[in-house]
Amino acid sequence: MTSDLRALATRLRNARRLTILTGAGVSAASGVPTFRGQDGLWRQHRPEDLATPEAFGRDPRLVWEWYAWRREKIALCRPNAAHEVIAAWSRAFPECQVVTQNVDDLHVGAGTRNLTRIHGSIWELSCWDGCAKGAPGWRDERVPLGELPPRCPHCGGLARPAVVWFGEALGGGNLRAAIEATACDLFLTVGTSAVVYPAAGLVEEARRQGAFTAEINLEETPASGTVDLTVRGGAEVLLPRVAELL
Ligand code: OAD
Repeated sequence: MTSDLRALATRLRNARRLTILTGAGVSAASGVPTFRGQDGLWRQHRPEDLATPEAFGRDPRLVWEWYAWRREKIALCRPNAAHEVIAAWSRAFPECQVVTQNVDDLHVGAGTRNLTRIHGSIWELSCWDGCAKGAPGWRDERVPLGELPPRCPHCGGLARPAVVWFGEALGGGNLRAAIEATACDLFLTVGTSAVVYPAAGLVEEARRQGAFTAEINLEETPASGTVDLTVRGGAEVLLPRVAELL
């Protein structure tokens, strides 16, 4: 384990372009529930009931109740040591990109630079109804949110969480930024089950372009067999240890 952490620290020291991809595991120590695994959200709910445009079309109130519950939980959470280390690296490295699948904005809270939130933010809303498609969303951090479902301040139609649901494409700019970030020397994937595409394909794309690839995760994932280095353990424990070795 220590030799793996040393190897990762050496790679980091020598990297000019660093890209970090994060998933729910990075926020687990902050108290944000993950999606898969023993206590994961998808153990209690089916994604197709709560996280698809069809589900929202069927029952916007039900979907909003779930998002309002998650917002209440996340509002109590603070960035942990993993977010802090990633934020520090994003400021220290000459070229560092952080791509996250997390919608909790804890990377934002930690002061992360060059952050792409490919699945959006749970603190942002957009219009589902009347506004022209592509109209800008807005930030609403109220907890509780007020009457559900919330309304669009522009047209009075239904508002939706500005997150990416299953079956939806990633915002063009975000996808482009994430793909561009695969051109790097070191691609580090942290706390993601590596099963949801296109995020899950980024590590392979980075490898194809010649990056050294590494994974930090509590458990084995589909990416574990293909990355150059994999380290098992909590991100909030391992990232500070690597930082100490730099
Ligand atoms: P998952 O819940 O699928 O996976 C979390 C991963 O983090 C698992 O591989 C765990 O082993 C690992 N993990 C848990 N605690 C950890 C810790 N303390 N340190 C390191 N690793 C830890 O979450 P994601 O991979 O982020 O999408 O899920 C990807 C997407 O699927 C989400 O963005 C969401 C979900 O459905 C949408 O909502 C579109």
